Amino acid sequence: MAQFILLVVMGLSLTACKFQYGIGYNKGYQPEQPIPFDHSLHVGKHNIQCQYCHNQVERSTHSNIPSLQSCMNCHLQVKTDSPYITKIREAYDAGQSINWVKVHMLPDHVRFNHSAHLNKGVSCQTCHGEIEKMQVVYQYSDLSMGWCINCHREQSSKAPLNCSTCHY
Ligand code: HEC
Ligand code: HEC
Ligand code: HEC
Ligand code: HEC
Ligand code: HEC
Repeated sequence: MAQFILLVVMGLSLTACKFQYGIGYNKGYQPEQPIPFDHSLHVGKHNIQCQYCHNQVERSTHSNIPSLQSCMNCHLQVKTDSPYITKIREAYDAGQSINWVKVHMLPDHVRFNHSAHLNKGVSCQTCHGEIEKMQVVYQYSDLSMGWCINCHREQSSKAPLNCSTCHY
């Protein structure tokens, strides 16, 4: 019941004014990764496209962290003397994966869909910042409800604002 009232109140305030709610979670969060994977080296310097590695991003709700197979396409030959590459190689040969630490995490009650955004031409950088310059990935946007809503409200977005768009 309390939850329902909260929803109604929020619904009213949403229609009434520009949405300011949202504490902003984990903005700037930059966990240490098990292997120091460098986007600025792979994307910035060597020009590898995002989708070469995150190859599910346009098709599925979730993007994906690449499998070690896509790393080994190059690293069977490239930098094989590096201890990091040796570690990747060993995991790959053993059929294991690397436990990358998740950077972005929306709460379970929120529905997000990459493909809906990419199909409308929203770039990765709009939401994730200049990943191609990051040696270590960090959370660029605050991922608050206000952040989502403010963009959905823009004339150019024509994106839905009803609660069930983003909430289960
Ligand atoms: C050569 C492969 C490769 C390429 C190319 C690549 N990435 Fe990544 N990406 C990774 C790996 C591996 C991780 C997990 C480790 C980490 O977070 O650094 C990752 C993590 C991420 C994350 C954080 C995911 C999370 O845990 O929330 C984002 C966002 C991201 N990449 C966006 C991009 C964007 C945008 C581009 C293009 C500008 C790109 N990546 C290009 C391999 C790649
Ligand atoms: C398209 C080719 C390509 C792919 C795919 C690729 N890399 Fe690389 N990687 C490179 C190149 C080129 C370098 C830089 C080598 C140099 O310093 O001369 C590099 C360097 C590295 C280094 C630094 C090694 C060191 O000790 O200096 C790490 C770690 C690394 N890559 C991890 C990964 C991981 C993890 C993946 C898969 C998610 C991946 N790479 C996918 C081409 C690739
Ligand atoms: C409209 C904003 C937006 C755009 C555009 C966007 N992302 Fe994301 N991305 C997010 C959000 C929000 C999350 C967290 C999703 C979650 O926790 O469920 C995320 C998560 C990720 C992750 C972590 C895995 C996952 O799905 O949780 C990767 C990798 C990623 N994005 C890569 C990309 C790449 C590559 C592009 C461009 C091709 C891109 N993103 C475009 C907002 C965006
Ligand atoms: C930079 C602008 C921007 C941001 C930030 C953004 N969105 Fe969107 N969103 C859009 C656009 C544009 C569409 C596409 C609308 C369409 O298909 O007509 C969209 C569509 C969606 C859809 C699909 C609606 C459908 O068609 O079913 C969902 C779900 C969604 N957004 C959730 C989110 C959530 C959750 C966040 C925040 C974590 C977010 N969006 C942040 C611009 C944005
Ligand atoms: C465009 C996407 C989007 C739409 C539309 C949206 N929300 Fe949200 N909402 C989010 C996101 C993302 C979060 C999590 C981040 C946060 O709490 O700011 C959230 C969080 C919340 C929370 C906080 C839950 C908590 O744990 O504190 C409530 C309550 C809520 N939304 C209610 C609503 C209601 C009511 C509507 C409709 C009037 C609505 N939302 C529409 C994206 C959206």
